[in-house]
Amino acid sequence: MENFIAYNPTTLHFGKNILTSLGTTLKEYGNRVLLVYGKGSVKKSGLYDRIMDGLKMEGFEVSEYGGIKSNPVIEDVDAAAAIGREHHVDVILAIGGGSVIDSSKIISVAIPVQNPGWDFFTGKAKATKAIPIVAILTLAATGTEMNPFAVVSNHALGQKSAFGSPLTFPKHSFLDPGLTLTVPRDYTAYGVADLIAHCFEAWFGIGETTLTDRFVISIVKEAMEFGPKLMGDLHNYDYRERIMFAATMALNGMTMYGRSTGDWGVHSAGHCLSLLYDVPHGASLTIVYPAWMRHFKGQIGDRIAQLGSALFDEKLTDVESIDRIEAFFKSLGCPTRLSDMNIPGEPGEALFQSMVHTKVNGGHMKMQEEDYRALIGLYL
Ligand code: NZQ
Ligand code: ZN
Repeated sequence: MENFIAYNPTTLHFGKNILTSLGTTLKEYGNRVLLVYGKGSVKKSGLYDRIMDGLKMEGFEVSEYGGIKSNPVIEDVDAAAAIGREHHVDVILAIGGGSVIDSSKIISVAIPVQNPGWDFFTGKAKATKAIPIVAILTLAATGTEMNPFAVVSNHALGQKSAFGSPLTFPKHSFLDPGLTLTVPRDYTAYGVADLIAHCFEAWFGIGETTLTDRFVISIVKEAMEFGPKLMGDLHNYDYRERIMFAATMALNGMTMYGRSTGDWGVHSAGHCLSLLYDVPHGASLTIVYPAWMRHFKGQIGDRIAQLGSALFDEKLTDVESIDRIEAFFKSLGCPTRLSDMNIPGEPGEALFQSMVHTKVNGGHMKMQEEDYRALIGLYL
């Protein structure tokens, strides 16, 4: 095993109707709330009105920033931070999926300083203070509700980058699976795929840690059992609950105990698809993961076969494992080739340039330019 530190300060409130304690939780931090949300699902579902009414009744002063887009952009972060500064907010209430909560993490460290949000990604600004974040998660996928990471795009610089600091864990996250019942079919599938990909990134990292490997296999098996059931019954609370719990556990630190790093090369390569073609995050991973395993099977074939055999409960080779994992992603309705996304033109060269520009790499499986070309060739 590799040495590790386990640290997770987020208080998780999980289950049916847990939002009843939202007001008292927010009050711990003050009276002035910055509400951050996405493009409209919270309004359509009625959640926005419900929260707003509650906050007003309890005497909170509320300012708001709506319109965070999926694959969020730094311009929205800066605009929201400006509103937060102007209103001297005490706490951020982030309502949405990964895009909203990730944006809120950068907003939270940007408000106390005058720097643009991107300075945290370049290291020009250090996170020394943060406005506390309380999150209400509406989409099970990223694990952002219980981790410190924020992934934001800067199209002017051609980057989709990650930032994290001990200050950017949400203080509290409210997870009512009922709030995910309205997530459409495609994003439901991408969420299942994303949580599985997080487990794979841990699995292919550095560090021999059998107990943690068992955590990983358990989480993926849960997703492989209840993901397809959920796809067959999108309004089933019980399936939503199991997937929501699995998604949080897939990226809250526990899959990393005993490892010095995960791999994350597939995420790094997938970010180029999102950056250039706005491919949804989970879809970018189901496109790149099978290709990445095929490309690296000469070096990590045993580990791939071990994964496949554990997941499918039979002795499989590396190639059989990759084929079965790819077929599983397809069965959810996820793309496994970029051509499934109907991208116009010939994206290969632009993707290669983006991979060079963003220095795509893994923490374990190192990539050079020839790997980029081979990988793209395998998933186009
Ligand atoms: O914008 P609205 O209208 O709210 O619609 C969203 C969006 O269109 C919709 N949605 C969310 N909750 C809904 C709903 N629609 C109906 N009912 C609901 N209850 O779903 C769409 C996708 O939302 P988004 O937040 O973009 O999805 P997700 O949670 O998958 O987040 C993706 C972002 O997270 C980053 C990704 O790179 C991507 O930018 N990631 C963050 C990570 C982290 N912080 O740890 C790790 C991940 O690997 C990932 O990189
Ligand atoms: Zn992910």
